Amino acid sequence: MESAVHRIGILTSGGDAPGMNAVIRSVVRTALHSGMECVGVRRGYHGLINGDFLPLGFESVSDISRRGGTMLYSARSKEFMEPEGQEKAISTCKLLGLDALVGIGGDGTFRGLLCLAQAGISVVGIPGTIDNDIACSTYTIGYDTACNTALESIDRLRDTMKSHERCSVVEVMGHHAGHLAVAVGVACGATVVLVPEHQTDFEAEVAEPIRRARLAGRTHFMIIVAEGVPNGAYGVAHRIREELALETRVTILGHVQRGGSPTSRDRMMATYMGYEAVRLLAQGKSCRVVAAKGDDIVDYDIAQALEMTKGLDPRGMEVLRALTGGRQDPIS
Ligand code: F6P
Repeated sequence: MESAVHRIGILTSGGDAPGMNAVIRSVVRTALHSGMECVGVRRGYHGLINGDFLPLGFESVSDISRRGGTMLYSARSKEFMEPEGQEKAISTCKLLGLDALVGIGGDGTFRGLLCLAQAGISVVGIPGTIDNDIACSTYTIGYDTACNTALESIDRLRDTMKSHERCSVVEVMGHHAGHLAVAVGVACGATVVLVPEHQTDFEAEVAEPIRRARLAGRTHFMIIVAEGVPNGAYGVAHRIREELALETRVTILGHVQRGGSPTSRDRMMATYMGYEAVRLLAQGKSCRVVAAKGDDIVDYDIAQALEMTKGLDPRGMEVLRALTGGRQDPIS
């Protein structure tokens, strides 16, 4: 790989996600292999504004792929949203001789990269968030680990719910999206899954499946609620207690889902995407987002990627309806 890029900065921004460290390692090692230098920017765009940098050599990224979190720390910078903050970040890049920047995060991170690209800095984004809510990519780094972490907790909860014949209402993360909730719901065999993309009809979609399950002899129930659902897990639990007279407990899984050692899928995707980001820069490309398209790794223009939209996996929703005894749909 021959390139006009000599010095790449790398930052992680927004909510952290397991696998971010594996991206950092991949970017650093691929860059060194291609004759480029790498610099870590700490605390996302905040560090870019304030020149909070550290050199990243071959050994400095050794043994980090298996660790959760991000060795570069992460932040959401309000200052960078203002033109003044952006100008400061651009002049810091110039002062420190950064020709290119790789940013790992979500849409907010990509909007920041777009603004730097417009100032002439070569940029590539990599989708990293447990929410899997980045429209241009079928997969985001951290999602698989978060699904597995949530699943492990839900399996434990099911043991105690079964012993006490209770209903468990579990709130999973996802910001405004229900991808994590659907995946976890399918995997744990939930009685009901509620997502923010769909307005819930409590009677048809919560009460009825629980009644059917009760009639079939079930005495414990697992309800998965995505955090973006209005009134959240407590609201749903309140109605279940009031309208179905079921002893109900709420568990908010929260930030537990964002931690832990990344799964093999996250480490592999992170490593491939990091490699691809440097390959694009080495080819003289800029303003790109690396994305997954099924099993393939592709790239898009950042501005176009930010315009894309992504719905919930229709297969997940269909299978959930079929397996949970809710509204009956013929299989087509
Ligand atoms: O985007 C990742 C995410 O964990 C969302 O699922 C959640 O809504 C949000 O970040 C929580 O952010 P914070 O770290 O600010 O609590």
